[in-house]
Amino acid sequence: MATTLKGISLIFISILAALIAARFIVPNSAYPRSPIASKLIPFEIGSCCRRRHHHHHNRHDDKKEKVSICDNFRHDLVPPATNATSVFCVDHNGCCNFTTVQAAVDAVETLSQKRNIIWINQGIYFEKVMVPKTKQNITFQGQGFESTAIVYNDNANSSHGTFYSGSVQVFSNNFIAKNISFMNVAPMPGPGVVGAQAVAMRISGDQAAFWGCGFFGAQDTLHDDRGRHYFKECFIQGSIDFIFGNGKSLYEDCQLMSIANPVQPGQRIINGAITAHGRVSIDEDSGFSFVNCSIGGTGRTWLGRAWRPFSRVVYAFTSMTDIIAPEGWNDLNDPTRDQSIFYGEYKCSGAGANATMRVPYAQILNDTQAASFLNASFINADLWLQPL
Ligand SMILES: *[C@@H]1O[C@H](CO)[C@@H](O)[C@H](O)[C@H]1NC(C)=O
Ligand SMILES: *[C@@H]1O[C@H](CO)[C@@H](O)[C@H](O)[C@H]1NC(C)=O
Ligand SMILES: *[C@@H]1O[C@H](CO)[C@@H](O)[C@H](O)[C@H]1NC(C)=O
Ligand SMILES: *[C@@H]1O[C@H](CO)[C@@H](O)[C@H](O)[C@H]1NC(C)=O
Ligand SMILES: *[C@@H]1O[C@H](CO)[C@@H](O)[C@H](O)[C@H]1NC(C)=O
Ligand SMILES: *[C@@H]1O[C@H](CO)[C@@H](O)[C@H](O)[C@H]1NC(C)=O
Ligand SMILES: *[C@@H]1O[C@H](CO)[C@@H](O)[C@H](O)[C@H]1NC(C)=O
Ligand SMILES: *[C@@H]1O[C@H](CO)[C@@H](O)[C@H](O)[C@H]1NC(C)=O
Ligand SMILES: *[C@@H]1O[C@H](CO)[C@@H](O)[C@H](O)[C@H]1NC(C)=O
Repeated sequence: MATTLKGISLIFISILAALIAARFIVPNSAYPRSPIASKLIPFEIGSCCRRRHHHHHNRHDDKKEKVSICDNFRHDLVPPATNATSVFCVDHNGCCNFTTVQAAVDAVETLSQKRNIIWINQGIYFEKVMVPKTKQNITFQGQGFESTAIVYNDNANSSHGTFYSGSVQVFSNNFIAKNISFMNVAPMPGPGVVGAQAVAMRISGDQAAFWGCGFFGAQDTLHDDRGRHYFKECFIQGSIDFIFGNGKSLYEDCQLMSIANPVQPGQRIINGAITAHGRVSIDEDSGFSFVNCSIGGTGRTWLGRAWRPFSRVVYAFTSMTDIIAPEGWNDLNDPTRDQSIFYGEYKCSGAGANATMRVPYAQILNDTQAASFLNASFINADLWLQPL
């Protein structure tokens, strides 16, 4: 027992060290600092150490006063199973059926037609989670993105490539996540370092929705790989290409937080990119649309760079601080891509939205051009997206 607890404490300390190394704490920024640093971490360390104290203290008078970590477990928060739903309860202290998220995923019936709610109590779950294609209709229900997180620390080197580095990887359709964070705490890449890309979430299934979720990492945080996805009121943090992939996704009311190294005024360096959309050909209808989002943080960053020739990204009604490089976009030094990429801006605001110095292929969209990107019909949501 002592060894286990010591192991747990070590994990928490190493997460904290990694968090600090990865600059989850962003000082001197006008933008709200990363909430996870101020709330999640101290809370968890507190509960870990109180628990340890209890055990030690009560070892000799166990019978008198049975204090259990589970006394405060809120059974009433766990939704009941119904005809249409199965419920899998996860608590890292062992107060309900599963102690890891992966164990709960494994317990979901293959090709289930029900909604499978994986209810996850607050806490840090330090594990790598994989949802295979056959485990469809899964919901991860957390208790708040500042208090519930799945955390791991693979990078491209340690996992045979960026695409497999995700702390959580979802390959099935109809996945939903609510009020939970996905974090990769591998060290932030230093200048010139290769193999340090570290994905927090890879979403590769069709028809996925994320409500009130957090995505924390540095380079390549959110792998929006393929399929139609909806992100509502999410917090997405990273440095380079931190939303990338070939998905067709609508991001509504989200906060995009750059943690690239601060750049002094007058320095011409650009050290970040928010998106790297990977549309390969004109026959694909993928694209990222950001509506009513806000962009802030540190560094100087492009709105997007052309990972693949037909890269397609639109920002609408989005506020941008001056961290956005005046030229706005980047073609990865391949001018042949300027004709095929689609980079649009529509009614954005803030110092970063000043389009005077934009690259020639950036488009300030008119009402007609913008229309199809502005609401959930962009992802055919009427066919699949269930309201909260
Ligand atoms: C659930 O299933 C039972 C038995 O099949 C049925 O009697 C009941 O009406 C169903 N309830 C709902 C809400 O569909
Ligand atoms: C735990 O598992 C038991 C037996 O499989 C089941 O009856 C119960 O509903 C489960 N409880 C939760 C909270 O998942
Ligand atoms: C379950 O998944 C299947 C296949 O993705 C989908 O057709 C169905 O609508 C889903 N059901 C629920 C309850 O989400
Ligand atoms: C998320 O958490 C907030 C407060 O913690 C709560 O008001 C909201 O209903 C939750 N939403 C979901 C989808 O769980
Ligand atoms: C990844 O591996 C390469 C080759 O072994 C090495 O040069 C590089 O420093 C490694 N990167 C990280 C982040 O470990
Ligand atoms: C835009 O986002 C802000 C912040 O999330 C939210 O308060 C506001 O209601 C949103 N506006 C619209 C029109 O959706
Ligand atoms: C936009 O940028 C140009 C060039 O840097 C500058 O002259 C102009 O004043 C800016 N416009 C606003 C509204 O800030
Ligand atoms: C919008 O832009 C498109 C493409 O440049 C153009 O064909 C169309 O006439 C414009 N529509 C309006 C209403 O300005
Ligand atoms: C979404 O926008 C389209 C225009 O592309 C419009 O035809 C449609 O009515 C809108 N849908 C909703 C639900 O507002």
